[in-house]
Amino acid sequence: MSTVTTASATREHRVTVRSLASRKSKAEPFTMLTAYDFTFARIFDEAGVDVLLVGDSLGNVVQGNETTLPVTLDEVVYHTRLVARGVRRALVVGDMPFGSYQVGPEDAVRTAIRLVKEGGAQAVKLEGGVDVAESVRRIVAAQIPVMGHVGLTPQSVNRMGGYRVQGRGDEGRHQVIEDALALEAAGAFSVVLEGIPETLGREITRLLSIPTIGIGAGVHCDAQVLVMHDLLGLNDWTPSFVKQYANLGAQASKAARTYIDEVVNRKFPDEGHVYR
Ligand code: KIV
Repeated sequence: MSTVTTASATREHRVTVRSLASRKSKAEPFTMLTAYDFTFARIFDEAGVDVLLVGDSLGNVVQGNETTLPVTLDEVVYHTRLVARGVRRALVVGDMPFGSYQVGPEDAVRTAIRLVKEGGAQAVKLEGGVDVAESVRRIVAAQIPVMGHVGLTPQSVNRMGGYRVQGRGDEGRHQVIEDALALEAAGAFSVVLEGIPETLGREITRLLSIPTIGIGAGVHCDAQVLVMHDLLGLNDWTPSFVKQYANLGAQASKAARTYIDEVVNRKFPDEGHVYR
């Protein structure tokens, strides 16, 4: 009996796709950050971040690749498992990497199942709109919540000819709106809007009944997401829409330089850091 009580009490405090939907209906913004390991997942979860995305941006910020294209499903599954272990409250979303769903809906469902079953994700994210709507429908039919991602979709870097703001001009604007509506109709529970004008972010947020999560899409979205390395100042370059909330890169560098200095000058380990 007490096990049942404990389990349901824990569940009550977890962020779910339903609780995120109700945040939109109450016009209460929520937050998402990327995370790739246990330590940062625990820190962000305890700080109260609502959604942790194990993004395929791990290809850039963890692996040092220029694009997200080389990231494999095995790698995302592995990092999702690390993040899921550090989380008690946040919703964990596993990102579907390039090549793991583009062939068709059956692949997409298989990928989503692996992220839930092996990674411990509670939801998955994939890029694209009208083109992936059938895959979204099939994943949702397999009882897995789906987060969409439209606008600047990094897996389309070669088609876009670089990382360019999307949705400018009538045609571009219509395309992003059509994509977002197609995802909602297919059953997605939320949609990331990346790299679009703020006015378009506001228009789509008003049009959709599901929450929009903006990154470079302005203040009117229902939620915001940042890549953790950008938030914490761990990259040597950040896009102009990013606000850096800490400078951990500089602090880490200073700590390493002080450590080197103290070791070569035999100041460390000192009296307070030895066994007697
Ligand atoms: O991979 C990622 O980190 C993302 C976010 C930037 C939304 O897709």
